[in-house]
Amino acid sequence: MDELTGRARAAITTTLFLLMSFHAPAASAQAFAKGADVSWITQMEASGYRWYNDNGTQQDVLQILKDHGMNTIRLRVWVNPAGGWNGVNDVVAKAIRARNAGFRIMIDFHYSDSWADPGKQTKPAAWRTHTFQQLMADVYQHTFNTMNTLATNGIFPEFVQVGNETNNGMLWEEGRASSSMQNYAWLVNSGYDAVKAVSPNSKVIVHVSNGYDNGLFRWNFDGLRDNGARWDIIGMSLYPEPGNWQTLNSQTISNLNDMRSRYGKGVMIVEVGMSATEVTASKAFLQDIITRSRNAGGLGVLYWEPQAYNWQGYTKGAWNANGRPTIALDAFIEGSPPQPPGTIVILQENLTGFCGVDGTIDNNHAGYTGTGFANTSNASNAGVRWRVNAPAAGNFTLQWRFANGTTGNRPGSLRVNGATLSTVTLPATGAWNTWTNSGSVTAGLRAGANDIALVATTSGGLANIDSMTVQGNGVSATACN
Ligand code: GCU
Ligand code: CA
Ligand code: CA
Repeated sequence: MDELTGRARAAITTTLFLLMSFHAPAASAQAFAKGADVSWITQMEASGYRWYNDNGTQQDVLQILKDHGMNTIRLRVWVNPAGGWNGVNDVVAKAIRARNAGFRIMIDFHYSDSWADPGKQTKPAAWRTHTFQQLMADVYQHTFNTMNTLATNGIFPEFVQVGNETNNGMLWEEGRASSSMQNYAWLVNSGYDAVKAVSPNSKVIVHVSNGYDNGLFRWNFDGLRDNGARWDIIGMSLYPEPGNWQTLNSQTISNLNDMRSRYGKGVMIVEVGMSATEVTASKAFLQDIITRSRNAGGLGVLYWEPQAYNWQGYTKGAWNANGRPTIALDAFIEGSPPQPPGTIVILQENLTGFCGVDGTIDNNHAGYTGTGFANTSNASNAGVRWRVNAPAAGNFTLQWRFANGTTGNRPGSLRVNGATLSTVTLPATGAWNTWTNSGSVTAGLRAGANDIALVATTSGGLANIDSMTVQGNGVSATACN
C-alpha cells in the first residue's frame, strides 16, 4: 500500500522499536487530559505576538497554559500548506517544544492542504487526480512519514486524530461518508494502521463536531463499525453560546455516555470554545463540561486556540486584547480532579482560624450559623480573613456562606496567601437574613499555614459572611498568630 518495501519497513520498524524502548509515552494514560490546540503559535510569534500571564509578565504561552492547569497540547497537520505553517516541519518544531515543556501530545491529521471540517474535506492538491486505491496509500504514507519524523525526535504522541471533524467523511468525493461509508472506513483504517506501525501505543481518535448531536454520532460511528473501521477514541467538538451551553452540555454528556456504551470506546472532547468576551459564561461552561465529562468517564477537554487574540478574525479564544488570559482559562485550574472527601473545616467568627474582619461581628440578622457573622464596613478593600493548616500541598475546596440584602452584587476577590485566586460576585440573596452557599472553588494550598481572605473590590464592602468552609485531606483551622 505504501512505497516502502517490506524489508525497508521492517528495518524502520526495528529502529523505531529500539527508539521507543527509551522513549515510551508518558505513563499518564489514566489522568484526565486538559489542554489546548495551539497550532497557531509559531505563526503568531513570527508576526510579533507575545503573551503575558495574569500578572502581566511576558512568558512562553505554553508556560501560561501549564500554569492554568493544562497538561496536553494538540497540533494540526496539513499535507502541503501554502507558507508551510502546520506542515510537518512546523508541527515537529511545536511538538518538540511542547514535549520539552512536559506536555502530553495530540496530533490532528487534516487530510488536506488547509482546513478540513464539516463544510470542506478538500483533497491535497498533490492527491487530486489519484484513484481511491492511491488515496488510501497517500493517507498511509503521509501519516507514516509524519509519525516517523516525530518518532525520530523521540515523540510518540499519546493521541493521534485520523481526520478532523469528519462528520461526513474525508477526502471528498471518494471518502464522503454519505456516498460511501466503506471508503470512509477504509481511509480511517489506512491512517490507523500507519499510526500503529510507528507508535503502537498511540490512541487513534476519530473526531466529529457538534458533540451534542447524538444522531450524527450514531450515524457516523455505526457506519464505521459496520464497515470494519478501527479506532480507539471518539473525539468531539463543542462550541456553545452563552445562552445554550447548559442545554448543549447536558446533551453532550448523554451522547458521551451513549458513545461509551454503544461502542465500548473512550470519549474525549478535543475542541471547545466560546466567545472570548463572554468570560463569565465561558468559565461556567468550561467548569461544567470539565467536571461532568470527567465524572462520566470522559478522557479530557481541550480548548481550541485559546491564545488567539486579534488574530485572523477568530473570536473564540480565551485571551484578552492586553495579551493576558481571560478568567475563562481558570476553569482548567478549578477543573482539577477533586480530592478524596477529606476533612471539612467550617471557619466561624471568634473561633480558631478566624483572623478578623474589617468591620464588626454582628448577630442582628437571623439564620447565621455559629455565634454571628462578619459584617465588613462599606468600603473597598474591606475584608474577612481566615487561616488553615494543610498537612501537604494539594488542592482543597473553598466555599463560603453569605447574605446580601441589597439588590446588587457585592463584588470582591478571593485571595489565597495574598494572591487573587478568583473574583467573586456575592450577589443579592433577597434579604439580609437569607443566607446562601457560594459555589465551590478549588484552591491549591501549600503545606503548612495558608491565609484565605475575601476582600471587597467596590465601596459597598462585602456581603455579610457567615462562615468559610475548607475541605480536603487533613486540613485544620490554625491560630492566626
Ligand atoms: C445593613 C445591614 C448590614 C449590612 C449592611 C451593608 O446595614 O443591616 O448587616 O452589612 O447593610 O450594606 O453592608
Ligand atoms: Ca456591611
Ligand atoms: Ca457564622
